[in-house]
Amino acid sequence: MSSIATEVSRRRTFAIISHPDAGKTTLTEKLLLYAGAIQIAGSVKARKASRHATSDWMEIEKQRGISVASSVMQMEYRDCVVNLLDTPGHADFSEDTYRVLTAVDAALMVIDAAKGVEAQTLRLLEVCRARNTPIITFMNKMDREVRPPLELMDEIESILKLTATPFTWPIGMGKLFGGVADLRSNQMRVFKAGEDRRQDDVEIIEGLDNPLLKERFEDSYDQARSEMDLIRDASPEYDAPEFLSGRQTPVFFGSAVNNFGVREVLDALIDLAPPPGPKPAIQRVVEPTEPKFTGVVFKIQANMDPAHRDRIAFVRVASGRFEREMKLVVTRTGKAVRASSAVSFLSQRRDLLDEAFAGDILGIPNRGLLQLGDTITEGEDLQFTGLPFFAPELFHEVEVKDPLRFKQLRTGLQQLGEEGAIQVFRMALGGPLLLGAAGALQFEVVAHRLAHEYKAEARMQPSKYRMARWITSDLPGEVDRFIDANGHRVAYDVVEAPAVLLERPYDLKVLGDLWPNIKLHTLREHA
Ligand code: G4P
Repeated sequence: MSSIATEVSRRRTFAIISHPDAGKTTLTEKLLLYAGAIQIAGSVKARKASRHATSDWMEIEKQRGISVASSVMQMEYRDCVVNLLDTPGHADFSEDTYRVLTAVDAALMVIDAAKGVEAQTLRLLEVCRARNTPIITFMNKMDREVRPPLELMDEIESILKLTATPFTWPIGMGKLFGGVADLRSNQMRVFKAGEDRRQDDVEIIEGLDNPLLKERFEDSYDQARSEMDLIRDASPEYDAPEFLSGRQTPVFFGSAVNNFGVREVLDALIDLAPPPGPKPAIQRVVEPTEPKFTGVVFKIQANMDPAHRDRIAFVRVASGRFEREMKLVVTRTGKAVRASSAVSFLSQRRDLLDEAFAGDILGIPNRGLLQLGDTITEGEDLQFTGLPFFAPELFHEVEVKDPLRFKQLRTGLQQLGEEGAIQVFRMALGGPLLLGAAGALQFEVVAHRLAHEYKAEARMQPSKYRMARWITSDLPGEVDRFIDANGHRVAYDVVEAPAVLLERPYDLKVLGDLWPNIKLHTLREHA
């Protein structure tokens, strides 16, 4: 049995961040092929196929089944265990995406080189930046007419505010795409189109000054040569601490669909990206190599079959060695978790797993025992921090159509709220429940699931509220005084955290002036 330290050091856990259509699905598939996980590769494609109709909630419903299987992909590559966490693509589910990003140690940023940095990439990058997540960049679609590479590098710096350090440099583009120069090994890798090439099938030309290059690639080579000279002067050397703190990004060029340049990013993930590190909890900082198991729930997903109301809690292991026969507890409630039922994501079949270490993801089926942000330990009283809930921007009042189904509606909303599908607020002075969302589609999904899974038809209508802010104070009794004075617009979320609801941005300023000792938060961390 290998030591925990050895196992931790060979873990790499990452997610791909990109704007829709940049090539995330294609790249994911190719990455999986390198690890021989062909079976899952198929399901990634299937999922993407159904994603095309994203505005249709029925489609989203269908996808939930596929996405449980493909939302965490574990593979072995070289000597490492690589966990790739999928992030939902649709902008309406971005909150879920943000939470998934709290469970990774690095991110692979895919940019469509014809388009450059796009809106969704920027938003996701900001989440990574807030946690200093190291980012590796893949400039995709070099087989097309793309933007000048120097301009792309410039965009990474000016829009994303990252220092960009090229590891490879493209020679030509589109029809004239000749391949990439590897600036570190001083070799040129020649491009060959074709979907199903494997890693060993690559022509290499030694030496970037080799006259052969000029002969074969002519003007493209001259152009690339002068760009490389420029970039050598202008961009800094790779600096590991800068990369690891999320300030510098190594850049690779390639074409995912042609499986070109993909292996280099996978190698970079192994060679440059960090293994799991320490994780802060309220009580102390937890080291990944500690002997006792700890983990945190970062995502909850309902099961496909509406008849079975169980759901899967995705737990990122933070420390120790997970074993089947373990006795584990949810620290929030002290209740026991059945470790024996945990599943891993090594294949589409959700194989049962035997061991897991920091960085790995467990799926624990349960019926409401686990909530987002829950910490699981062998008994230690611990609460990990850092799982964000964002203040919703859209609000609907919800009532049940048939009053006899009120209890089902309550249960449904409680569970969907715990799952993170929607935020549910109970007004301090009573009245209809309030739903808060980041995107309008969430309301449709919730209405649909309430009707089908809980047999409670809901009636929803837009509320007058436009903003919510969670409230805290360092001054004892101040929150209670605030709630007494503002009861009509105070509400409690699923974990009973109080929030104030506002109709206009201006009200926020007024509140701030009136209540200097009350802190108003757009983000709530941990349960
Ligand atoms: P996403 O998950 O980020 O949304 O992107 P996805 O991989 O689905 O890729 C979006 C489109 O870009 C796909 O074309 C895909 O084939 C294409 N693509 C990905 N990588 C490359 C590349 O290196 N070069 C070129 N030229 N195209 C690339 P599609 O027409 O939307 O889908 P499909 O019919 O090809 O599946």
